[in-house]
Amino acid sequence: MKVDRVIMAQQGAPDVMQFETVELPPPGEGEVQIHQSAIGLNYMDVYQRSGHYPMELPSVLGLEAAGEISAVGAGVANLSVGDRVVYGGVLGAYTSRRNASAARMLRIPNGISDDIAAASMMKGMTVEYLLERTYKVKPGDKVLFFAASGGVGQIAGQWGKHLGAEMIGVTSGPENCRRALDLGYAHAIDRKSEDIAARVKEITGGIGVPVVYDSIGKATFETSIACLATYGMFVSFGATTGEAPAVAPSLLQKAGSLYFTRPTLANYVGPRADLEHSAGRVFDMILGGQVAVNISQRRPLSEVAAAHADLEAGVTTGSTIFLP
Ligand SMILES: NC(=O)c1ccc[n+]([C@@H]2O[C@H](COP(=O)([O-])OP(=O)(O)OC[C@H]3O[C@@H](n4cnc5c(N)ncnc54)[C@H](OP(=O)(O)O)[C@@H]3O)[C@@H](O)[C@H]2O)c1
Repeated sequence: MKVDRVIMAQQGAPDVMQFETVELPPPGEGEVQIHQSAIGLNYMDVYQRSGHYPMELPSVLGLEAAGEISAVGAGVANLSVGDRVVYGGVLGAYTSRRNASAARMLRIPNGISDDIAAASMMKGMTVEYLLERTYKVKPGDKVLFFAASGGVGQIAGQWGKHLGAEMIGVTSGPENCRRALDLGYAHAIDRKSEDIAARVKEITGGIGVPVVYDSIGKATFETSIACLATYGMFVSFGATTGEAPAVAPSLLQKAGSLYFTRPTLANYVGPRADLEHSAGRVFDMILGGQVAVNISQRRPLSEVAAAHADLEAGVTTGSTIFLP
């Protein structure tokens, strides 16, 4: 069977992504074939395309998608043709149909559409491990979260509120601030017009927050340090403006016996039990109505370059999915 997919021969600007038509073989041992109906766009795709992360080339891009199993390879006992599945973190998602390891597949529960699953799996599991395992958010914690109106940020606001935290979101512009307040954040700081650290000090009575979730990296590193309370934890989980600088132990000492971590989803959902735990929490939060997933951008896969450019320019909100 012939499939179209998005491939890049070199890393760089969005136009390095090209379409190619290839013959898709039957799934190999331990694999399933997925007829994909929705593909998730993640900031990680931008890092992989732009060269921020090294890649073996040529490479098919994309890490997350949902769809129906259309064929099952040898040795796969627990999945059947017709099952609805979603996966996150398996390179090669920008296509209509693909083969992938059955060990990374998650069954989509009834009540969750393929679109929502593809829009929320990686972003939701990221929020799960950040808020529940990296720093365990407790009721009453004041929590600072950057990019509050983005894909991960919208889920984090709602999730954190459900855990009983007072969520403080940083975003850009009055409209995004209003959106953040509608989505669980108790406070919204406009990074374009406000002094973030001063607002955080005001909200926390001069103490600072016990945890900062900073996905912006280079541009916000010093601000995040300034927002932390004594013993606070700096969770640097992204590099939208470039990697955070190297952290000197003496800086952590001087800024108040701080902790610093640079976590990544792949570690937190590596073992199958952790993957099932994390995905199970995401499904429960969606089915229970604690987290609403907003697909603000739905685009044909043919618009992949424009969608990357929009995500990088910071003009999207919520999640983006591609319809193959
Ligand atoms: N470590 C992990 O395991 C992991 C897993 C998933 C995602 N992530 C990270 O999480 C972040 C969010 O991912 P996403 O896919 O949901 O993207 P996103 O938040 O929808 O998009 C990025 C957002 O960053 C904000 N931004 C851009 N430039 C900024 C600047 N100079 N200062 C402050 N904010 C700026 C913009 O939001 P505003 O204009 O509203 O501020 C923009 O919309 C990414 O950095 C990604 O790498 C990490």
